[in-house]
Amino acid sequence: MKDIIEKLDLRRDNAKLGGGKARIEAQHKRGKLTARERIELLLDKGSFEEFDMFVEHRSNEFGMEKQKIPGDGVVTGWGTVNGRTVFLFSKDFTVFGGSLSEAHAQKIIKVQDMALKARAPIIGLFDAGGARIQEGVAALGGYGEVFKRNVISSGVIPQISVIMGPCAGGDVYSPAMTDFIFMVRDTSYMFVTGPDVVKTVTNEVVTAEELGGASVHTTKSSVADGAFENDVECLLQMRRLIDFLPASFDAGVPQWPTLDDPDRIDNSLDTLIPDNPNKPYDMKELILKVVDEGDFFEISPSFAKNIVTGFGRVAGRSVGFVANQPMVLAGVLDSDASRKAARFVRFCDAFNIPIVTFVDVPGFLPGTAQEYGGLIKHGAKLLFAYSQATVPLVTVITRKAFGGAYDVMASKHVGGDLNYAWPTAQIAVMGAKGAVEIIFRGGDADTIAARTKEYEERFLSPFVAAERGYIDDVIMPHSTRKRIARALAMLRTKKVEMPPKKHDNLPL
Ligand code: HXC
Repeated sequence: MKDIIEKLDLRRDNAKLGGGKARIEAQHKRGKLTARERIELLLDKGSFEEFDMFVEHRSNEFGMEKQKIPGDGVVTGWGTVNGRTVFLFSKDFTVFGGSLSEAHAQKIIKVQDMALKARAPIIGLFDAGGARIQEGVAALGGYGEVFKRNVISSGVIPQISVIMGPCAGGDVYSPAMTDFIFMVRDTSYMFVTGPDVVKTVTNEVVTAEELGGASVHTTKSSVADGAFENDVECLLQMRRLIDFLPASFDAGVPQWPTLDDPDRIDNSLDTLIPDNPNKPYDMKELILKVVDEGDFFEISPSFAKNIVTGFGRVAGRSVGFVANQPMVLAGVLDSDASRKAARFVRFCDAFNIPIVTFVDVPGFLPGTAQEYGGLIKHGAKLLFAYSQATVPLVTVITRKAFGGAYDVMASKHVGGDLNYAWPTAQIAVMGAKGAVEIIFRGGDADTIAARTKEYEERFLSPFVAAERGYIDDVIMPHSTRKRIARALAMLRTKKVEMPPKKHDNLPL
């Protein structure tokens, strides 16, 4: 028995070495952790249960029959994050560059299927060069199976992709179909094809960082939802994110203990809005003062900063926040902001996370750049997302709610359950000056000034909307957290039936 146990230990130790000491050292020299070190950091200590440690590829091409490494470039299994089950696969770059063979794909498929069956989130840690070139179509077929499962699981269990090295081909397309992508700065890249292929095909000379580094994907392409300084920070932040997420669409949001009183009053909010309506203020201050213990996990903080999206908690339960940000472009809705918020709203709705919307929006951004870029379709995505959401929707208008953007931002008309306004709210078709210049075109300066004042007094307040019941109440800014907490508690049992259909036709 002793011999047998020793042999097992030996096989395990051998498998744990992956591509060998030299490649592990090279991995460390690049500032990256190994696949197993990453798992240790992501999961609760000692909770990892590994599957398929001894799986090997079955390829005999290009001398591959002589290069068999147990595990075949991916470590798979499950464990817990703060006691809650998660499934994961972690690509091992030290083994054939983490590339995907048929056997490697089978390992990923197994955890995907298991995660779906067990209704628990799945996290992929990517550090890999795409399809195993020596395997050809067997690898492509493997990716297809992985992609299909990404889609089947979409909206059932949360799927998170963490990009922790150079990733190409299928190792970017699978993440692209998951709910969130996060990257590590300076060591991770995402591209369909790398700089060498780019040079050959288009003659364009570009570095990996310029083509698909974290800064490109978090600020320009919006492919990634966030980036972190190194592997350790990234994995610790993933633990934080998982704490906000339900295990599945019907599991309900997690409830964490909190010492933060839901009825907490914050008097500083009474002076958040500047006297001058054109002066910006930081909407994140409001979010941080409303959520439990100031704990807010922002999604896509570096892209379309004119809208803020992210997770917080109220009374210990997760809430998705969507908020116009007056500090950037006056909080206007443009194509990027609409797309960013629409995707976030749809995630929250799919997983039954209530949404709180803070509104201060001067309208949609005018101009050819926006129109040529499809603002109508992108704006419609957000309108569509809110209109189809059946989760509790609580909206607070802090200042401007102008034009179509008023309708879009979770207004009563598209499904807002409780719509509040601060006394500083201005709900109108447009700002006073613009409105008067249209109605009294050609009027002299005195007329314009007098009429502008009249328009301001009549329309730039929350009361016209409140008179019609479009606003349920005009609330004191200092009581915002309390009112939201009470609203969310009341809405916990909300039930809305939509007419049966195959699926909707979101404007893509
Ligand atoms: C087999 C691979 C591999 C691959 C890397 N390796 N990619 N082996 N198949 N796809 C191996 C290398 O031979 C090397 O082995 C080791 O991994 C490390 O690779 P390096 O090139 O030395 O590392 P680095 O310089 O950091 O470059 C990483 C890389 C690059 C950017 C990922 O390796 C690369 O461009 N690989 C090919 C990417 C690609 O085109 N993949 C196919 C995409 S098509 P040794 O033994 O030297 O350590 C695809 C199909 C699905 O994925 C499409 C779905 C839509």
